[in-house]
Amino acid sequence: MSAHGGPHEAGLVDFAFDETRRAQAETILKRYPADRRASAVMPLLTIAQAQFGGWLPREVVDYVADYVGMPRIRAYEVASFYDMYNTEPVGRIQVRVCTTTPCMLCGSDGIVDACKKELGVDIGESTPDGQFFLREFECLGACANAPIVWIDDDFYEDQTPESVKDLLDALKRGERPTPGSAKGRVASAPLGERTSLLGKEGQSDAS
Ligand code: FES
Repeated sequence: MSAHGGPHEAGLVDFAFDETRRAQAETILKRYPADRRASAVMPLLTIAQAQFGGWLPREVVDYVADYVGMPRIRAYEVASFYDMYNTEPVGRIQVRVCTTTPCMLCGSDGIVDACKKELGVDIGESTPDGQFFLREFECLGACANAPIVWIDDDFYEDQTPESVKDLLDALKRGERPTPGSAKGRVASAPLGERTSLLGKEGQSDAS
């Protein structure tokens, strides 16, 4: 579930999509029939959250609900249910560690501990300087490259406690390391030599 509650006082935020986000919103809305604009609520909440700085105060959710023409309460239901939305202020850089079984078997406990130590916060907390927000996530759908750390829009794969420390240090310096495998794998290819599909083209390995 997303973060709830918080210090925000209703009525203090004046929000509208900027030119870039409005263009993105209109592009997204073209994917849906004209009488199904409400179906675009999730991607529009995502771009609204990005514009607002990583969280969704009530007025921003209202704006998106009105934009797609759906009851505001239904937009609140979406924003408060899904993990990718924050309904209270959080750190600018969102560090999410997958701890579901394949990642856990590949060492995600050590990744979580390294993140806690490097950032000085617990799961669900932001650093006092507002730079980082740390949270655990369920399966991110990239189990073949476990363990996975998802930072903002990027996946960092094949992580170890040492590599995640380097990653966080780079982010603290204002750098944005290249996403992908910390072990140099290309996509989900095996480390080292190929181990399958080695027969001649058009033949199975057994032939
Ligand atoms: S279990 Fe971590 S990506 Fe699937």
